[in-house]
Amino acid sequence: MIASLAPLLKKAEQKNYAVGAFNAFNLETIEAVVRGAESLHSPVILQLTEGDLEHCGFNETALLALYRAKSASVPVCVHFDHGKSPASVKRAVAAGFPSAMFDGSALEFKENVRLSKQTVSICRPKGVSVELEIGRLAGKEDYVSEVKSVFTLPEVAAEFERLTKPDALAVSAGTSHGWHSQKEVLDLALLKRIDAVTKAPLVLHGTSGLPDDMVRKAVNAGVRKLNVKTQLHDAFNAAVKKKLAQGETDTRKCLGAGRDAAQQVVEKRIRLCGSAGKA
Ligand code: 13P
Ligand code: ZN
Repeated sequence: MIASLAPLLKKAEQKNYAVGAFNAFNLETIEAVVRGAESLHSPVILQLTEGDLEHCGFNETALLALYRAKSASVPVCVHFDHGKSPASVKRAVAAGFPSAMFDGSALEFKENVRLSKQTVSICRPKGVSVELEIGRLAGKEDYVSEVKSVFTLPEVAAEFERLTKPDALAVSAGTSHGWHSQKEVLDLALLKRIDAVTKAPLVLHGTSGLPDDMVRKAVNAGVRKLNVKTQLHDAFNAAVKKKLAQGETDTRKCLGAGRDAAQQVVEKRIRLCGSAGKA
């Protein structure tokens, strides 16, 4: 069934678990995410960036994700990830997304607030949940690219939330988009301080490189949505490569192996988030 972000994360907050948010872009990756959640009876966030949607057609891919979410036996929040402007979020809302992110993290505070408020005024009357971001993550994700992280300051996060009133708040506290040579070290104390002065459930982007024990600790520090893309795609690619190297020529079998490998990543992360059995 299709779910919106706000109620999904509210329940996670009450029961102290997090909901995994996985990036998909085609039928196989959508299946990997939904099947993983169904097999563990867990709620899940199926998210797509503008680049993911444009890969095979914005509205066509959105329809595919929404259709699959509807037929799922568990709550699936179909979420528009890293919206670059209120206009792009508006497009996602028109395509039927029940949840969307506006990422103004690269902007000056005032401009981030202005465009974030604009996004909220587009989404809220339609019952669409909104994720906003304050602080910057290093790395590359879709159109977002930063060389250095800027950690979120608790007082800035509190002021940003007071002015914009998001349903979920993405913060920067040590993770970065994509794989990195150094191990990622989360500033758990900072996360706890941010959580103490904000009301919205916290979101961590760029969690592919986060060690398993850190995922658990992040959940205990108040994180309710963890975004994973690179880990999922790497598992997919490796499984397809292996099939090809074995001489497999049936494309369905190659892509099917990718889908199943990605599903394993989804299931592992769901267990770490503590959401298995919570659907
Ligand atoms: P990773 O690719 O580092 O997992 O980040 C995913 C993400 O933040 C999607 O928004
Ligand atoms: Zn991200």
